[in-house]
Amino acid sequence: MRKLLINFINKITSVSLFVKVIGIALFLTLLYGFGTLLQTKTLLKTNLQKNTDEQLLLISRYIENRIKNSLLTDDWADVYKTIEDSLSIYNDIKYILVLDNDYNLLFKTLDYNVSKELILANKPEPGNIYKLKLLKTEQGYIRDIAMPIFDGRLGIIRVGVTINQIYQTLSAITEKLVISIFLVSIAAVFLSYLLSYILNIPIKNLTKAISEMKKGKMNINIKPIFNDEIGELTRTFNAMIENIKIEKQKRFDLMKKIIKSQEEERHRISRELHDKTGQYLTSLKMMLKSITKTSLVNANGNDKLAEISKALDESIDEIHNFAVELRNPILSDLGLIKSVAEFINNFSHNSNIKVSMRLDDKTKNMRFDPNVEIAIYRVIQEAFSNIYNHSKATTVDIYFKCSENKFVIEIIDNGTGFDVELAKNNPDRKSIGLFGIKERIELIDGIFFIYSKIGSGTEIRIEIPAKI
Ligand SMILES: Nc1ncnc2c1ncn2[C@@H]1O[C@H](COP(=O)(O)OP(=O)(O)OP(=O)(O)O)[C@@H](O)[C@H]1O
Ligand SMILES: [Mg+2]
Repeated sequence: MRKLLINFINKITSVSLFVKVIGIALFLTLLYGFGTLLQTKTLLKTNLQKNTDEQLLLISRYIENRIKNSLLTDDWADVYKTIEDSLSIYNDIKYILVLDNDYNLLFKTLDYNVSKELILANKPEPGNIYKLKLLKTEQGYIRDIAMPIFDGRLGIIRVGVTINQIYQTLSAITEKLVISIFLVSIAAVFLSYLLSYILNIPIKNLTKAISEMKKGKMNINIKPIFNDEIGELTRTFNAMIENIKIEKQKRFDLMKKIIKSQEEERHRISRELHDKTGQYLTSLKMMLKSITKTSLVNANGNDKLAEISKALDESIDEIHNFAVELRNPILSDLGLIKSVAEFINNFSHNSNIKVSMRLDDKTKNMRFDPNVEIAIYRVIQEAFSNIYNHSKATTVDIYFKCSENKFVIEIIDNGTGFDVELAKNNPDRKSIGLFGIKERIELIDGIFFIYSKIGSGTEIRIEIPAKI
């Protein structure tokens, strides 16, 4: 029962504002209208009935007063005259009956036979007090009075008046009132429709703006329609959007600064490696070469020197590659997607891992802020470096997807997989790769997921807002 009531209340409260306002207006109008109708009808009926009763009492007392002497003297002509007079005074009299105390009919105004039923239908109260009664007859409702003559010593007078008039008046008034209720209800529905329509416009505008905001749109400014509370709410909403825009811009500027300084630092290290460490190793190699050519070393020593020279070559190559990797990628001309495609080609070529890249038409020419593109590029670089160093994968799939408000990148390898929780919670780990990915993605307002299980490969998923 309680559940049913809660369900009912939930249903009612979840209808639209439009329906609520119209519903309440209509309900109140009908409640007030029919309440008034009922009250008016009851009051009118009571008053009319009281009026009839008073007249009935007056007329029957008048007859009783006049005929009691005539009855004592057996003057029937006078009885007849009294009754004639009474009929002429009060038009609504249906009948006047004079009965003796044994309920025998002594006189009647009706020109048809009076039934026994009518004669016995009303009797004075005990103690010979008059009695008023409503009788239902074939000709409609009749108000009847039974008045004892000479305190009940000479018989009873019965007077009956039709009260159809009262009912006719009542139904005419009811009809008029129902028509007015109907007209007032139409006016109430129309006015409440107008009111809810006016209220609904700014609310609809606000709802639309909020859903656009959720999609990342920030160029929103709603014009307040009225100077009321909703107008105030609209102005506050506009101010809030302005604040969010300023905060967003501040964060964005900070993000650009951070990425820029990171890139400058990488560039400095790259130059240092290339110009100093690389040069230093190259000159070491040349010195080694000059020693090899001299007769200072025997054949055994030469073999050793050749080995050192090979190791030096490898180190020079590695330092060179590392320096290239560190250098600022030129994304501005090619754009992120083409630069990644080129990187993947090189990766595949150098690592012998098959990489397939999939993207839809929407993502093909997608461009972001240069700093955001660099951040994404670095993240992809790190993910592939991990695949190369740890996964033993033979194939990698990289997907670029774009939905209404999200840009998604997925990198899936078929390698060994690893225990993500363990890698994350290892207290003395020196690795910073995954941590760096997370940091960079958060810096550009994105989310980073990694799913992996030992033996089932690794999947990296990056989601960033499409409008950044
Ligand atoms: N694709 C992958 N396949 C298998 N294991 C992985 C993969 N990516 C990461 N891992 C595991 O997660 C660990 C953490 O990776 P992370 O990139 O943070 O550090 P790292 O690569 O070891 O060192 P670095 O700081 O140079 O990146 C790795 O040591 C490796 O065990
Ligand atoms: Mg790594």
